[in-house]
Amino acid sequence: MKLLKKGAEADIYLIQWEGTRAILKIRKTKKYRNPVLDSKIRKQRTIRESQTISEVKSFGIPTPLVYNVDLKKSAIIMQEIQGKPIHDLPDSKIIDLCKEIGRLVGIMHKNGLMHGDLTTSNFIYFKNQVFVIDFGLSQKTIKSEDHAVDLRLIKEILNSAHAKIMKSCWKNFLSGYKSTVGPTKYSKIINIVSEIESRGRYATVI
Ligand SMILES: Nc1ncnc2c1ncn2[C@@H]1O[C@H](COP(=O)(O)OP(=O)(O)O)[C@@H](O)[C@H]1O
Ligand SMILES: [Mg+2]
Repeated sequence: MKLLKKGAEADIYLIQWEGTRAILKIRKTKKYRNPVLDSKIRKQRTIRESQTISEVKSFGIPTPLVYNVDLKKSAIIMQEIQGKPIHDLPDSKIIDLCKEIGRLVGIMHKNGLMHGDLTTSNFIYFKNQVFVIDFGLSQKTIKSEDHAVDLRLIKEILNSAHAKIMKSCWKNFLSGYKSTVGPTKYSKIINIVSEIESRGRYATVI
């Protein structure tokens, strides 16, 4: 069992599962949380993640296959996507793929799902496809306000982690997003994003 990544929330291991490589994701105990609440949160996010990762396949979102779930250990064993997180790709490729990311986020929103943690590390590029992972904070919602929160987060991530290419990335993201949600929903969401920014709870991004 090889430790691949120590995430903010979980440890990611590369393991063997029935003869093939697989990913083991274990949510870690947070010492600062009350132990009862902590185990409840980890269990809840493990359930949410394993269910949603499979559900979104029917919308046409590429995700890893779930092989096994162990709620007692807050662990999920899933297919390894052998590509690279978008975050680690060359700038020109990230700019290109932002359109596809926008398209995928639009599909989720259209189907009443917000991802809840849209970062460029939660999209993996493999064999010309963009896979989506990390659904522990996802929520079923058709509210435009919730969808706008997803957009605000990815915009902030682009601005902080990919500052040099932010403008082209955001433009491409929005064009992909608009292509799936349509012009009416698009305008509504964009207005809410501007409104959130103008409230000053967040710093305005460009
Ligand atoms: N199924 C997978 N296939 C390949 N890499 C993965 C897979 N799941 C997670 N990873 C890698 O581990 C990192 C952290 O996993 P993630 O599920 O996003 O956990 P966290 O909640 O800690 O962010 C990802 O950014 C990715 O690099
Ligand atoms: Mg993640």
